[in-house]
Amino acid sequence: MDKSTINSLMEQIAATRAATTKELEEARVRFLGKKGAITELFEQFRSIPADQKKEFGQLMNQLKNAAAAKIEELREVIENNGAAAEGTAKEDLTMPGSQYDLGSRHPVSIVRQEIVDIFRKFGYDVAEGPEIEDDWHVFEALNFPPEHPAREMQDTFFVSRGEQQTDENGNTVWHNPLLLRTHTSSVQVRTMEKKSLPIRVVCPGRVFRNEAISARAHCIFHQVEGLYIDEGVTFADMKQAILLFAREMFGPETRIRMRPSYFPFTEPSAEVDVSCNICGGKGCNICKGTGWLEILGCGMVDPNVLEASGIDSKKYSGFAFGMGVERIAMLKWQVKDLRNYFENDLRFLNEFNTVL
Ligand code: DAH
Repeated sequence: MDKSTINSLMEQIAATRAATTKELEEARVRFLGKKGAITELFEQFRSIPADQKKEFGQLMNQLKNAAAAKIEELREVIENNGAAAEGTAKEDLTMPGSQYDLGSRHPVSIVRQEIVDIFRKFGYDVAEGPEIEDDWHVFEALNFPPEHPAREMQDTFFVSRGEQQTDENGNTVWHNPLLLRTHTSSVQVRTMEKKSLPIRVVCPGRVFRNEAISARAHCIFHQVEGLYIDEGVTFADMKQAILLFAREMFGPETRIRMRPSYFPFTEPSAEVDVSCNICGGKGCNICKGTGWLEILGCGMVDPNVLEASGIDSKKYSGFAFGMGVERIAMLKWQVKDLRNYFENDLRFLNEFNTVL
């Protein structure tokens, strides 16, 4: 016996065809039957010199396995064809494979994840809080004065009015109402209350406002809030963090500008614009000719807010910012009608199945 015998048998096995059970049985006998070629090889095994036994043994086993596998494979094909002819086939092997519709991530999820990933790279953790909140976390601890319009029914969805009480003038007042959070700034408060300083978090989440639904407003949308508190945090730190974020999000050429603004929970406060990523700042219809696009609100956390959560405002300072996820998605993809993000029309969603 030599290797060429084995090789040539290997080739014969590969080339074997059988259209009927009879041909198959003949093939089996030819290779593996009592007088079959492979069986005979095994009988000659004793005469192989001891130092070659191992190598030949392995080759012969491979040969035997290949023959057995081939016979099995041919048997399956013949049985299936036979069944197909009788009309009892388990499977129709000629049928095209079924098409699987792969889901895609929702554009809001894609952008939210992108924002969160950028801040994670900067060392921020992710914090989450409840969508049904109390007045304290949404307004009171964030320095909203009692008469602030955001506290009105027209702006906020209330879940329960709270406890009825009568004030000193005999008027009915409600205490501890439950409401749907109108911004993710409530998670700032929840994070500060835990007081494990320094704090560096982003808080993504869904928010609710009592607005009529239109192309530009929706009663549900998403925000990502950011909060950084430590000793000696300055406005310059905030500006740098936001600039780095903007460049990661909109490209390395992006510039930012800050305009003075007002939020009850920050002082000073600013609104941030990025240079328009469509026209590069020259002015186009997306930026309405200004070259700038507003992306977020921010500011230095008001000392009242730190103190409300029990943080020493003499020792610690910090900044906060908040942005709308749909707003960033609109800028990224120029989808201007907000309703698209909530209607789950597959024609819209399928446009994103190549993104990530
Ligand atoms: N909460 C604000 C809003 O919903 C967004 C915001 C502005 C968050 C400034 C902040 C901030 O943390 O500093 O419009």
